[in-house]
Amino acid sequence: MNTKNLFSIAHDHFHGLMLAQMIKRGSTTSDVMPVTLEGKAKYTVRFFEQELENHFYLEEHVLQPEVKGISPEIDAIFAKLVKEHNNIRKLAKDLKIEEDLEDKLDLFGRMLEEHITTEEKILFPKIQEVLSEHDLQQLAERLNKKGYENIFRY
Ligand SMILES: [Fe+2]
Ligand SMILES: [Fe+2]
Repeated sequence: MNTKNLFSIAHDHFHGLMLAQMIKRGSTTSDVMPVTLEGKAKYTVRFFEQELENHFYLEEHVLQPEVKGISPEIDAIFAKLVKEHNNIRKLAKDLKIEEDLEDKLDLFGRMLEEHITTEEKILFPKIQEVLSEHDLQQLAERLNKKGYENIFRY
């Protein structure tokens, strides 16, 4: 299989955390991020449309059905994560309106950071805890067939 085409959660999360660092209040300047609030907002909306939208879709429509029903805790965590996706979607739309950009960018950065941390530190470890080694392997293989990188490899 050509691993280049695999959807990589870890890769996207790394990019998301970098973005959060660059748009939160008091962030340090960076080569890739525009200096003005308007520029930052446009960059963030583009990042959302080009990376996050697809990432959220795959988490909700590929990963979630795979783990649905295996534990009430995982179902509850996923319900919370989907709500967070919707809040981030709304905020991305709101960033197109050029007012209160400093507050909105700060909020977007903090929400995204917290969301990714919940997935990495709570959701993924929980899935690993609940599923046996054998089931995890099978899950990874099914995800792989759908073009989804093994999220438990790292
Ligand atoms: Fe997510
Ligand atoms: Fe994610």
